[in-house]
Amino acid sequence: MAHLFINQIEPGVQINDVYMVTQPILRNTTRGDLYIAMYLSDMTGKVNGRMWRTTEAVYSRLPSEGFIRIRGVAELYQGTLQIVVNDFVVVEADTVSLSDYMPRTKKNISEMLSETKRILAEVRHQGLNALVDEFLGDADFMREFAAAPGGMQIHHNYLGGLLEHTHSMLKVARAILPLYPQIQADLVLTAVFLHDAGKTKELSYQMGFSYTDPGQLLGHMVLGIQMIDKKVDALAKKNIVIDPTVLDSLKHIILSHHGQYDFGSPKLPATAEAFFVYYIDNLDAKMNQVTELINNHPGNADWTAYQKTLETKLYRKRPLK
Ligand SMILES: [Fe+2]
Ligand SMILES: [Fe+2]
Repeated sequence: MAHLFINQIEPGVQINDVYMVTQPILRNTTRGDLYIAMYLSDMTGKVNGRMWRTTEAVYSRLPSEGFIRIRGVAELYQGTLQIVVNDFVVVEADTVSLSDYMPRTKKNISEMLSETKRILAEVRHQGLNALVDEFLGDADFMREFAAAPGGMQIHHNYLGGLLEHTHSMLKVARAILPLYPQIQADLVLTAVFLHDAGKTKELSYQMGFSYTDPGQLLGHMVLGIQMIDKKVDALAKKNIVIDPTVLDSLKHIILSHHGQYDFGSPKLPATAEAFFVYYIDNLDAKMNQVTELINNHPGNADWTAYQKTLETKLYRKRPLK
C-alpha cells in the first residue's frame, strides 16, 4: 500500500501507516490521565501525535526517535492537523525507505554547489580567499555542508537546507552589495559562506533532526569559530597568515549574525558588514519560513494557525490574480 504522506492527510481520515516518531513525552491531562505527546513526520511534514489514556508501559515501548505503524485518526485541533493514535507497533528502520521520511530541499544540490563556488571565487582578499578555499577543498566538510539541514524547526529544516540557505544568501548579497559600496564585499561573502557552517556539527540528521551534544553545549556560532580556527592553523602550516584584524572582523560577523542576545548571539552587530549579514540572514530565514508555512498549511482556510515564532497568523490568500 502506498504511503499516505503527511501533507495529503485530511482531517477525519483514518490512518494505518508508518511514520517517523520523535520526542515522545508522557504527560498528565488536567484530570490526571496519562497521555503521550509526540511528533509524527515524513518527508512532507511533521504533525503532533496524541495518544490518550495510556500507560507508562505503552510509553516505554516507543523509541525516542524511530518508526512506528500507527492506527488512528486525523483531526484539526485549534486549526492545526494532529493525529490521535489509538495503537502502534514499532517498525525497524531497515524495513522502511528512509528517503520517504527525511524532508529534503526541492532545489538541485549540485547546481547550488557550483553557483556557491562561482560566487565565492569572487573573493579577492588573499587571506579570505585562502580560507574559503581551505573549506571548499575539505571533502568531508563539503559533503556535510551539502547534506545538513539549515535548522531544526523554523527555517530550511530539511536535508540540503544549509546549502540552500547559504546559496540564497550569497545571491542576495551579491545582488545588493553594489548598492552599498562602503561595505567590504569580501568579508560579507566569506562570512555568509561560513556563518552557519557550525550547523554541520550542531545538528544530527541521520534519522530525524536533533541537536548533537556539542550543538547543545556550544551552538553553531562557537562551533563555526572553532572550525575557522582549525583552518587558520592549517593555513599557517602552509605559511599563509591571515591579518588578525581581518580574522576578528570575520568572526565578529559570525558571532553577531543572530542580531540579538536572546537569539543566541554572544555579540551584537558592531560593523556595517555584520548588520548587512544579520539582515540578509533574517530575510532569507523569514522568507523560507513564511512561504513554507503558507504553502504547507493543511486545509484551504485563508489563515494559518497562530505561529508563535512570528507572533501572528499568516494570510494565505494571494491578493493579485
Ligand atoms: Fe545562524
Ligand atoms: Fe543563517
